[in-house]
Amino acid sequence: MNAMFPQMRPRRLRYTPTLRRMVRETVLTPNDFIYPLFVIHGQNLKRPIGSMPGQAQLSVDRLPYEAEELIKLGIPAVILFGLPATKDASGSENYAEDGIIQQAIRTLKAAVPELVVITDVCMCEYTDHGHCGILDEHGYVVNDKTLPILQQVVASHAQAGVDIVAPSGMMDGAVGALRAELDRIGAEHVPVMAYAAKFASGFYGPFREAADSPPAFGDRKQYQMDPANGREALREVALDVQEGADMVMVKPALPYLDILAQVKQRFGLPTAAYHVSGEYAMIKAAAQNGWIDERTVAMESLTAIKRAGADMILTYYAKDAARWLQVEEH
Ligand code: PBG
Repeated sequence: MNAMFPQMRPRRLRYTPTLRRMVRETVLTPNDFIYPLFVIHGQNLKRPIGSMPGQAQLSVDRLPYEAEELIKLGIPAVILFGLPATKDASGSENYAEDGIIQQAIRTLKAAVPELVVITDVCMCEYTDHGHCGILDEHGYVVNDKTLPILQQVVASHAQAGVDIVAPSGMMDGAVGALRAELDRIGAEHVPVMAYAAKFASGFYGPFREAADSPPAFGDRKQYQMDPANGREALREVALDVQEGADMVMVKPALPYLDILAQVKQRFGLPTAAYHVSGEYAMIKAAAQNGWIDERTVAMESLTAIKRAGADMILTYYAKDAARWLQVEEH
């Protein structure tokens, strides 16, 4: 038996909802959230994403309404993913002046300037092969041929007025290459949020339908990390910090909370966690079956991610969570 019993009774502080609120260590706010948006060509389109109930692809003209809703809910930022009109070997719409993301940035910044616009900088949505870089004849992603393309991409995003760029392809040296390019073109004020520890995860499945970005062959294990590797994740983060990352991200979130906690403690940088599409879809599917309570499980997940060390959470639950936070639950 506990030697402190009966003097110590932790249950005393759980007696009423108000007491529990007073001793709560981790409190979510809408400020914690970054909302992912999928942008498509066309007019007045809101195309539901089957694998992610409640999420939709939006045409550029719909973005201002979405942005106003987010600001009203207190959500400070979005991260944009684009679906191009055409795909090719080098993903050329990715850095086109009038590409889908460049249009989206300009439209959002003109309509709701205070909303922070983050762009995912990667090639997989734009290439006809669906990989995150330039391929050689063996289907291998060639790191150093990919970097100059990513530099063109960030330059085009910066020219359109992006607030933060987030390289997500796990190419070696990408953070340094993007930092150098941003500085060279006079965008030294634009921070880099590095997808620093990004794992080759099955939890991205629903996203690949949403962003139409599955690899045409093979997988991403030659660039994304092995889920078994924690020490390597810390080395990856250290490299991105050395290369000039302003913020770092761990992705996915819930299965990698050990890594998130260590990254926060060790580096102390603003740390983001991506609560990814599969994490969202699992909650949705189980809730739709009546097996779990959606609000309870979603808020528990987001709270756990923050408790582990996340300063920012990229989540498809951003809007729901902000609404739930307006009505206190005990
Ligand atoms: C692009 C990218 C992916 C995600 C974010 N950026 C897909 C991938 O790496 O295959 C996944 C996000 C999610 O699942 O919600 N590289």
